[in-house]
Amino acid sequence: MPRFVSAKPDSRLIPLPWGTPLAEWPTEHLVALPRGISRHVVRFIRVGSSVYAAKEVIEHLALHEYRLLHDLMRMGTPSVEPIGVITKRVAADRTELDPILITRHLQFSLPYRSLFASGVRQDTVSRLIDAMVVLLARLHIIGFLWGDVSLSNTLFRRDAGSFAAYLVDAETGELHDALTNGQREHDLIVARTNLFGDFCDLQAGGMLEESLDPLHLVDMVETRYRELWSELTGVEEFSGSELGRIESRVRRLNALGFDVAELDIQTSEDASHIRIQPKVVDAGHHSRRLLRLTGLDTQENQARRLLNDLDTYRVRTGQQHLDEAIVAHAWLTDVFEPVTQIVPTELRAKREPAQLFHEVLDYRWYQSQRENRDVPLTEATHGYVRDVLRKLPDEAMSADALAPLEGRQLADPYDPSKGFLETSEEAPPFDPWEAAAEADEPEAGSGFFDVASLRAKAAAKEASKKDGTVKRSLAASVPAEVDTGD
Ligand SMILES: Nc1ncnc2c1ncn2[C@@H]1O[C@H](COP(=O)(O)OP(=O)(O)O)[C@@H](O)[C@H]1O
Ligand SMILES: [Mg+2]
Repeated sequence: MPRFVSAKPDSRLIPLPWGTPLAEWPTEHLVALPRGISRHVVRFIRVGSSVYAAKEVIEHLALHEYRLLHDLMRMGTPSVEPIGVITKRVAADRTELDPILITRHLQFSLPYRSLFASGVRQDTVSRLIDAMVVLLARLHIIGFLWGDVSLSNTLFRRDAGSFAAYLVDAETGELHDALTNGQREHDLIVARTNLFGDFCDLQAGGMLEESLDPLHLVDMVETRYRELWSELTGVEEFSGSELGRIESRVRRLNALGFDVAELDIQTSEDASHIRIQPKVVDAGHHSRRLLRLTGLDTQENQARRLLNDLDTYRVRTGQQHLDEAIVAHAWLTDVFEPVTQIVPTELRAKREPAQLFHEVLDYRWYQSQRENRDVPLTEATHGYVRDVLRKLPDEAMSADALAPLEGRQLADPYDPSKGFLETSEEAPPFDPWEAAAEADEPEAGSGFFDVASLRAKAAAKEASKKDGTVKRSLAASVPAEVDTGD
């Protein structure tokens, strides 16, 4: 009799064929979804409308990972949600089978290989790296030593114009009260080694733009991590006449998505010298504010964008004197919900509502620029659905993943690592997930939504205005802080 260890059991899991090795499960329980490289047998299983990831792994590791993922969830760190561990599995011939760790499939998540479609831009790579670096710093802030930082052990989700990274594999992790510098350095060395391998692998597959050198990329990861860490925890000293620097430090940290729990401020006797050191806690400053105001649970950059729109709405409708929560409610019903409701039901699996809203705001901005008028939000939403959304692959889960792709078929759609049925030497490696991600970018020059050229135009305009100074911050690369008013 298999045994279920679970804090939140899903009884629909009980009748599944636990006595069968995971690799031999009948396909009626499985769903083919993109995923990263793994050591263990990993399958996605479907019960009702829920999808779970199942990993067959030895007992002490399964339990260790289950508990760690629990701790990470409790501390609000972006990671996959543990559901349970199934132990005491026995096959029909009485041989013992390894336990299975079940986690909830992270909806709308993209393994990195899906993102590295051929010709991935430098810009996309640096956004991915930023997401990865922020994740690593967030884990280190709470005392989590990952031990196996790699692209395959990270999932990415869209977060406005950036990405948010999630930890998917905690098997090697350790939770401490706080990490020593030596422990953090250890994780960085592991990160360098693994990521170098991941990038070389992408390069060998022709998926990395030629100008992107793996060594340069891992250097970039390390430099950015160090910059972020010193921004988060470093001591800053300045003279008593520069008090504004205290506030700017806090603002910069908030903009990076971190909160300041305490600020240790020391002043010299005559107050001419000030020394500050923040104690940063893992944040979600904006997403918490948005959640409190509207009940919308979003990523940090999406929250920032939505809050911007909320603030603009407040000014536009002359409600500055009203309580923020009341205005937020009005914005939700007058602005946000109408946009999401325009989307036909069958297209709703393509984007999370918050991401969709963000993209509609972008779409409207570009259309307004192009046509030199204020495009109403409803009109822009219809345009976005027609020109963009219809053409995107599903991100919630790709139901069409089983269909043959351009005459090619996966040897085992439930295990993409097995490659394709017939492989010709000549053809470049073809990955359906990458093809789907590629289709993601609206075609350039299609006449109605040429983002690249519009972005370039907008950037040129901005640059001429600002005399060429382009401001950029780690996690806060929301595309152009534009006025989102109707
Ligand atoms: N909960 C989940 N949601 C989405 N994808 C998942 C989930 N769990 C695992 N995966 C996918 O499966 C892959 C392998 O899982 P992982 O835990 O890293 O296995 P291993 O320990 O064998 O490396 C990951 O790279 C990820 O793409
Ligand atoms: Mg792994």
